[in-house]
Amino acid sequence: ARTAVVIPAAGRGVRLGRGAPKALRPLGGIPMLVHAVRAVARARTVALVVVVAPPDGAAAVRTMLDEHPLPDSAGATDVVVVTGGTTRQESVARGLDALTDDIDVVLVHDAARPLVPVETVEAVVAAVRDGAPAVVPALPVTDTVKQVGPPADGAGPGAPEPVVATPERALLRAVQTPQGFDRATLAKAHAQAPTEGEGATDDAGLVEALGVRVVLVPGHEEAFKVTRPLDLVLAEAVLARRRA
Ligand code: CTP
Ligand code: MG
Repeated sequence: ARTAVVIPAAGRGVRLGRGAPKALRPLGGIPMLVHAVRAVARARTVALVVVVAPPDGAAAVRTMLDEHPLPDSAGATDVVVVTGGTTRQESVARGLDALTDDIDVVLVHDAARPLVPVETVEAVVAAVRDGAPAVVPALPVTDTVKQVGPPADGAGPGAPEPVVATPERALLRAVQTPQGFDRATLAKAHAQAPTEGEGATDDAGLVEALGVRVVLVPGHEEAFKVTRPLDLVLAEAVLARRRA
């Protein structure tokens, strides 16, 4: 009965702009991926971390992780590196293939959420261990969200987008990672997921497609995803505040 965390880190970070693959970019002088690995390894129950590296970057990631060993406080946590695919869904599936037989709870955590507090990780693990097959940290949304439809006939690029619906904000949640799963449930969800196209960006969505109940636990503001350049500014500020 052991818990593993799969960390998809194989994305390019197109929205962040030019530079090294996103997971290798520094935050407070330390690669984003190292922050993410440390954040999940801090949870007592995590025995194995599977890092999913860019297809051409596994050796570089292994070297980088060896240069930033886990602190003793992380206990006995193995860190293995595998290579990812062209979509996040494919990268997670490759990470799942690397799990050892003794693992029965799996978390999936974006390398792009390097500052997740250990309390959030532990709350997700606890909810899965209490019997929920799929657990997702989430926060209320602050912006009102509009659903848009296809452009009007003859509309060129850059034309205003038509709104088709405004879902009631109080019913919406923004989801984060780590998402936690009973291992067999997540493996089945990935095995049954279509693999063409962009793939799923949300593992819990694949579990929902099986008809299995997904539940939410409180997320955390500091578990935000580093996606665009302004997110790097925020991440540096959060780190500076922690170090103050
Ligand atoms: N990811 C992955 N394999 C892919 C694509 C994404 O492992 N083929 C990972 C990213 O490394 C990231 C997480 O999935 O940790 C969330 O994805 P996102 O924030 O979209 O990162 P990128 O895909 O790298 O960014 P972008 O979409 O802007 O290119
Ligand atoms: Mg992406």
